[in-house]
Amino acid sequence: MDGLENIKQQIEGRGPVEALTLLAGQFPGQIIFSTSFGWEDQVITHMIFANNLPIKIFTLETGRLFPETYYVWNRTMEIYGKPIHAYYPNNERLERMVNAKGPNSFYESVENRKECCGIRKVEPLKRALAGNKCWVTGIRAEQSADRQDLGNLEWDEQNNLIKFHPIFSWTLDEVKEYIRVNNIPYNTLHDRGFPSIGCAPCTRAVQPGEDFRAGRWWWEDQSKKECGLHEAHK
Ligand code: ADX
Ligand code: SF4
Repeated sequence: MDGLENIKQQIEGRGPVEALTLLAGQFPGQIIFSTSFGWEDQVITHMIFANNLPIKIFTLETGRLFPETYYVWNRTMEIYGKPIHAYYPNNERLERMVNAKGPNSFYESVENRKECCGIRKVEPLKRALAGNKCWVTGIRAEQSADRQDLGNLEWDEQNNLIKFHPIFSWTLDEVKEYIRVNNIPYNTLHDRGFPSIGCAPCTRAVQPGEDFRAGRWWWEDQSKKECGLHEAHK
């Protein structure tokens, strides 16, 4: 993408808030941040809300989130008094799948699991991203080997937009410290061995020393672990 190098140069050496401000100016009304209410996402939500940045925040409400996730979502709306837009799965597709295969078909095969992620996350994501030019996420390099190979700014071929990861190079300790210093609400599952939090039936705690994402779709082969939100990096 032509403008990508240009934008890369502009944000080079700038902190996350400065870079977000710059991008919000560059793409008025066409920049959007996806939150799953994990601690990285809470840091970015704080940056956006506390600085009144004109960036829309949305979440993909799969219908299978943890109670703790709904709690921190609600708490965040209360504290900042700003909207977080929820995108739901298409009800007809969801009913067809659940009626044919039951509510927990994802444990049976990778194919079924991808079907569920497709209906509950990927299709709603396409709707959320439609018409936007810049998608902000909470991805960090440390989260997985695949993610380490990226930069904080990339061209997303599939969705035809720029993807920006404002805290890409932060360590987990930096994330935690920012949350502590700014008194940001966070998902309490993080204190109970969940470094990465997705849908409840597909996420479990990890053991000390295990990979950040080891608790996601834990019953599957490492190589298959990908839900389609971030195709290039699991
Ligand atoms: S995933 O691909 O495994 O599900 P991960 O949980 O690491 O992704 O989160 C990486 C980023 O993807 C988050 O910082 C957030 O921007 C986005 N994301 C993940 N899940 C959701 C969701 N349910 N709703 C909105 N954004 C999400
Ligand atoms: Fe379905 Fe699990 Fe994917 Fe959530 S993570 S959409 S419950 S397969």
